[in-house]
Amino acid sequence: MAIRERLKKDPRLVPIGINIGKNRDTSNERAYEDYLFTLRELYDLGDYFVLNVSSPNTPNLRELQMGENLGVILSEVWRFRRFKPYKPILVKLAPEISGEDMVEIAKICEENDIDGVILTNTLKVEGGGLSGKPLFEISNERIREWVKISKIPVIGVGGIFSLEDVQKKLSLGAVLTQVYTGFVYRGWELFSQP
Ligand SMILES: Cc1cc2nc3c(=O)[nH]c(=O)nc-3n(C[C@H](O)[C@H](O)[C@H](O)COP(=O)(O)O)c2cc1C
Repeated sequence: MAIRERLKKDPRLVPIGINIGKNRDTSNERAYEDYLFTLRELYDLGDYFVLNVSSPNTPNLRELQMGENLGVILSEVWRFRRFKPYKPILVKLAPEISGEDMVEIAKICEENDIDGVILTNTLKVEGGGLSGKPLFEISNERIREWVKISKIPVIGVGGIFSLEDVQKKLSLGAVLTQVYTGFVYRGWELFSQP
């Protein structure tokens, strides 16, 4: 596995989170096999793992967030990690998930001892995913909603461009935050200037 070789060479100056999706040509019924394969291959090299069931770029991947599909993946992952050294495993959700769907997902995550959720992935738009500022309020809304229904900790992501944005997500109940698009636009400056 190419990524395994690359990770083995990493100087490990910071914790490594490994984000896992399924292959495009794997059916949703067999998706759990892809998640397990990658977890097995890389478990010793990651500090935490993210089950990405919310990328808008892989056809049908987001259906894995729902009901039985998610239940199968999470229960297989639960069985896999049962006798392994503890490492946090998180689930990453789409910003479109809310209401009863979110309640059901929270229940499935709790039943399978998921350590955290990442809210949110990109918004699905024609041709791909929308990130950055247009996502800020929507992902905030999802954090607000999640903390009302579940005690599973939230990592907040979506549209962070400043310290104030980070503080907003923390004030809503996120315990950690992540940034992608803001880093693309502002580079390292983002971390040194508010
Ligand atoms: C070019 C690009 C690639 C991304 N690839 C992934 C991915 O492979 N897995 C994933 O879970 N999220 C992926 N994301 C979503 C981001 O991790 C993040 O959840 C989202 O962009 C919202 O944060 P932001 O507004 O800070 O970019 C990607 C986003 C962008 C813009």
